[in-house]
Amino acid sequence: MNTILITGGLGYIGSHVAFEMSKSNFKIVLYDNCLNSDESVLNELKKMTSREIIYINGDILDTPKLIKTFNQYKIDYVMHLAGLKSVPESNINPIAYYKNNISGSISLIEAMHKCNVKKLVFSSSASIYGDPEYLPIDEFHPVKPSSTYAFTKLYIENFLHDLSKKDDSWSIVALRYFNPAGSDSSGMIGESPKNKPGNLIPAISYVALGKIKELQIFGENYDTKDGTGVRDFIHITDLAKGHLAALDFIKKSMNGFNVFNLGSGEGNSVREIIYMYEKVLKRKIKTSIRDRRDGDIDSSIADPTKANKVLNWKTSSNLEDICRSEWLWQSKRFYEK
Ligand code: WQD
Repeated sequence: MNTILITGGLGYIGSHVAFEMSKSNFKIVLYDNCLNSDESVLNELKKMTSREIIYINGDILDTPKLIKTFNQYKIDYVMHLAGLKSVPESNINPIAYYKNNISGSISLIEAMHKCNVKKLVFSSSASIYGDPEYLPIDEFHPVKPSSTYAFTKLYIENFLHDLSKKDDSWSIVALRYFNPAGSDSSGMIGESPKNKPGNLIPAISYVALGKIKELQIFGENYDTKDGTGVRDFIHITDLAKGHLAALDFIKKSMNGFNVFNLGSGEGNSVREIIYMYEKVLKRKIKTSIRDRRDGDIDSSIADPTKANKVLNWKTSSNLEDICRSEWLWQSKRFYEK
């Protein structure tokens, strides 16, 4: 049985990837410092699967601990999902992002190299494309990161690509996520922002729960169908399955470096999301119009053709599934406390 190490494995994306991995024939080791996650997620995962899930509390900057973990559990593959991911925070505290995201990834690669573990799936982001020159966005689109967060993601992609050219024993896939949202259909794991949510769909959940007074719509004068921002929301379970597809691609002895956009190929506006969520709730969401956020773009929509064809992967959930699963998770978590 192959063993996979998932950095950031207790996080929103990591826990969904771990759950999907548990359905296939892998031994799973989660490595997380719980800065942006909680060990209680492990208990939920253990209720969801009979597969053994090992958890190591560790920081990706701790290279010796990574080496010890690789040797102790005889790791064959790595999914690198650990990283700071707030766009506004990254612009306020860039050094923390250089350190955790870039130095942390170098530390991980160094440990992998020392232990001769050379198969990696890396969590990248569509935000490296910046304000798109054309839509939908394919993998050939120019990259113009407009935040420190996006800069770190591109920087890591670039050094992984260089590494694969210097040493052809590496097999690396970078997955460029569009807008992950929703939760596993069990309602047992999901996005649990420690503070006021920055992302749209969890923010709507918090309004629905009365945790915040109203949904602030950041701008309604974008060059879009209804003036509000348009994004490509992808169900977290579809995103997690994209990671398995990438692993299968690597297992078929793919060597070198490859990138794939993970998105639905559909764009929905902020107002369309609100209407869909109101349909799920059967009640209205209070909103107010605010100024644009710095760096927000009009539209971001994926062209997922490459992943569809090469990874034999495509999304299967729609916007209603995303909103329903998000509400199941957030309302369960809130009312069962
Ligand atoms: C979506 C739309 C907002 C909140 C970010 C990161 C990206 C990825 C996903 C990590 C925009 C509007 C939002 C609110 C609003 N993260 N909005 N009111 O900015 O597209 O992407 O999260 O990988 O890298 O950049 O997502 O959900 O914050 O915003 O009106 O309270 O919703 O203006 O148009 P974004 P988002």
